[in-house]
Amino acid sequence: MVALLDWLIRYGHVASAAVWTGGYALLAVLLYPLLRREDRQVIARIAEPIARMLSYAGTATFAFGLLLIWRTRGYGNLLSGEWGMLVLGSVALGTFVLGLNDSALRPRLRRMANGGTGNAAQRLTLVALAALLVAIGCMTRAVYAVA
Ligand code: HEM
Repeated sequence: MVALLDWLIRYGHVASAAVWTGGYALLAVLLYPLLRREDRQVIARIAEPIARMLSYAGTATFAFGLLLIWRTRGYGNLLSGEWGMLVLGSVALGTFVLGLNDSALRPRLRRMANGGTGNAAQRLTLVALAALLVAIGCMTRAVYAVA
């Protein structure tokens, strides 16, 4: 029963992190390259609900991540050693991306829907994607941290 709970929490964390990171990759690789050929307003209208959904995926990653701390090495190990550093680093990166999404990317997409170029939205998406890829590196390393 305990193993099932642990697995469900880990599954929730990794699945929501995959949707979160994959969403930015989708915007960067599939949608934004169309900016040169398609109507910007149409692209902004498709990208806006995706960015809203990425807030939910990020929040779910966070919530499952906090449960995962409790189910793995515990909150007592957060402030010492490699494991704590990697987990806290990911918390910082995750917080940064959640803030960037809601306070910078979504307003830029709204501006794009009203005639903006979309260049800033493209840059912010790449920054978010890069930060989450670094977080995946930290998190997958945390599993093997010796201390
Ligand atoms: C936001 C705060 C976060 C917290 C509190 C958190 C917490 C954790 C914890 C405690 C673990 C388990 C480490 C272990 O088994 O020793 C973990 C694993 C993992 N996390 Fe996070 N994490 C967070 C953010 C992220 C982010 C932003 C991503 C990626 C977008 C991510 C992806 C992963 C992955 C891929 C694993 C490895 C799972 C495995 O190999 O089984 N996490 N996380």
